[in-house]
Amino acid sequence: MKVILFGATGMVGQGVLRECLLDDGITAVLAVGRAPTGQTHAKLRELIHRDFTDFSGVAAELTGYDATFFCLGVSSLGMKEADYRHVTYDFTLAAARVLAQQNPGMTFIYVTGAGTDSTEKGKTMWARVKGETENALFKLPFKAAYMFRPGAIQPLHGITSKTGVYRVAIAVMRPLFPLMRAMFPRSIATTEQVGRAMIAVARGGAEKTLLENQDIAAIAQRNSAR
Ligand SMILES: NC(=O)c1ccc[n+]([C@@H]2O[C@H](COP(=O)([O-])OP(=O)(O)OC[C@H]3O[C@@H](n4cnc5c(N)ncnc54)[C@H](OP(=O)(O)O)[C@@H]3O)[C@@H](O)[C@H]2O)c1
Repeated sequence: MKVILFGATGMVGQGVLRECLLDDGITAVLAVGRAPTGQTHAKLRELIHRDFTDFSGVAAELTGYDATFFCLGVSSLGMKEADYRHVTYDFTLAAARVLAQQNPGMTFIYVTGAGTDSTEKGKTMWARVKGETENALFKLPFKAAYMFRPGAIQPLHGITSKTGVYRVAIAVMRPLFPLMRAMFPRSIATTEQVGRAMIAVARGGAEKTLLENQDIAAIAQRNSAR
């Protein structure tokens, strides 16, 4: 399986990249970002791209892949709706439209979050925008599209967040994560679980298209015997 990864420098994306590089069933990973990942691996190729609203000029390079793992995203904290929507909806759809056109057999997996609002009408800004983005992705002619809606994510294997406030929160929470995961297994996933579950869904599909934490954990568990 050949995959494209957006957001490979971020916390979720780093976790997904790690699992992709470890998985023998994945033969090639194209990481698309505005900066290099800093990693080298025989399976990894990088495409540095500047304008995330327009992928038409690199359409040929985005062709011939089986799945996309779209982990690019920002926290809505302190952002105006228009700015948050620009990164969340405009960037995602600009990439997805070109990918669907170039790869009709592609499975597209997008990371949103627990509480995403499919009605697009609720009071919470980020949830509405993520919901609108999910709904638009479902309308594109992919072979299949799945939305991952994790709650909190515990980064493993030395992975860190790009977002300062999350880095601090993670440092504070780190000793508590094992206890919290034991107490609230439905609310906290690890970067490893998210990565393994994405690969499994790209490979074999899933019973639902909206996957919450408990679904992600169960699918990751089934994919743990590599
Ligand atoms: N972390 C969590 O606990 C959690 C939980 C649920 C859902 N999520 C969702 O998962 C997604 C990823 O979160 P994360 O924690 O991995 O975030 P992160 O560590 O802040 O990483 C964000 C990623 O998006 C890229 N990115 C951000 N703004 C960009 C821009 N303007 N142009 C190009 N690339 C841009 C970053 O690239 P650069 O390296 O170039 O900045 C980085 O690769 C988000 O949609 C988030 O809502 C996260």
